[in-house]
Amino acid sequence: MGLLDGKVAIITGAGGGIGRAEALLFAREGAKVVVNDVGGARDGSGGSDAMARKVVEEITAEGGVAVPNFDTVATAAGAAGIVKSALDAFGRIDVLVNNAGILRDKTLLKLDEELWDSVIAVHLKGTFLVTQAVVKQMVAQGGGGRVVNTTSVSGMVGNFGQSNYAAAKAGIYGFTRTAAIELQKHRITVNALAPVAKTRMTEDLPMFQAGMESLTPEHIAPAALFLGSDLCGDRTGHVLAVTGSQVFAYKVVQSAGKFKDEGAAWTAQEIADHWDVITKV
Ligand code: NAI
Repeated sequence: MGLLDGKVAIITGAGGGIGRAEALLFAREGAKVVVNDVGGARDGSGGSDAMARKVVEEITAEGGVAVPNFDTVATAAGAAGIVKSALDAFGRIDVLVNNAGILRDKTLLKLDEELWDSVIAVHLKGTFLVTQAVVKQMVAQGGGGRVVNTTSVSGMVGNFGQSNYAAAKAGIYGFTRTAAIELQKHRITVNALAPVAKTRMTEDLPMFQAGMESLTPEHIAPAALFLGSDLCGDRTGHVLAVTGSQVFAYKVVQSAGKFKDEGAAWTAQEIADHWDVITKV
C-alpha cells in the first residue's frame, strides 16, 4: 500500500535536484507522475527534453508510472500544457508540487530588470499560473486536492545577493497563505516547503564545500510526500522546512504590542522610546 496509490501528481522542475527526488518517491508510493522540466541551465538559459525523459526512465525502470512534460511554468500556455499532459495521460490531477526554479544572484546595487523579471517569472508567476490551472481542474473534479509550493530560507529570512529570489520566495509564502484560505472550501490544501539541499543550485555555496554532503534532496522528498498525501489531513497554509535531518516550521509572529491609553496615535518619538516593548514577542 503506497501513500499515493491511485493519485496523479504533477511535479514541476522534476528533471533534477529536489524535484527528481520527489518524483521518484511519489512514484514509489503509487502516484502516476507528470515529470515536468524545461531542461535548462541553473540560470534558466537553454532547454532540452533530456532531463525530464531521464527521470521518467528511472521511474519506469523501477516499475513506476510517469510521463514527461517540457513546458515552461512561466507562461499561461506552459501551465495549460502541463495540465493537458496530466489529463491526456492519466485523466485527473490530485497533487501538484510547484518546485521549478532558477537562480540569478546579484546584490541589489548590481541587479538589473532582466535578472529581476526572469526569477520572478519562474518562481512566483510560475507558481501562480500552474496552481491556478491545476486547482481549476481539481475543483471541477470535486474531490479535493493538495498543492505543495517551494519557498526558501531566503524568502523567509533574507539572504545576501538574492533580493530577486528572496522576493519571489516570500511572494510564494504570501500566495500559499491566501490560496490556502480560498481553497479550503474545496478541500484543497496548500502548503509550502522550505528546503536546504545540495543540488546544482547550491553546490557552490561554502556550506556545501565544508562537509555538508548529508543535506540531500532525498532528505526533502519525504516532507513533500507528507504535504502531498492524506497524512497531511486538513493542515493548510503551513511552511515546513527541511535541512538534512532537521525538520521545522517557519511562522510569521506578531508581537503583543502596546496600546496608548486614549486610543490616540503614537508619535514617531514615542515609537522610538518604546521600541523594545513594542517589538517584544
Ligand atoms: P535544480 O536547479 O536542480 O532544480 C530546478 C529545476 O527546475 C531544474 O531541473 C530546472 O531545469 C527546472 N526549471 C527551471 N525553470 C523552469 C521552468 N520555467 N519550467 C519548468 N522547469 C524549470 O535546483 P533545486 O535545488 O532542486 O531547486 C528546487 C526548488 O527548491 C527550487 O524552487 C529552489 O528555489 C528551491 N530551493 C532549493 C534550495 C536548495 O538548498 N537546493 C533551497 C531553497 C529553495
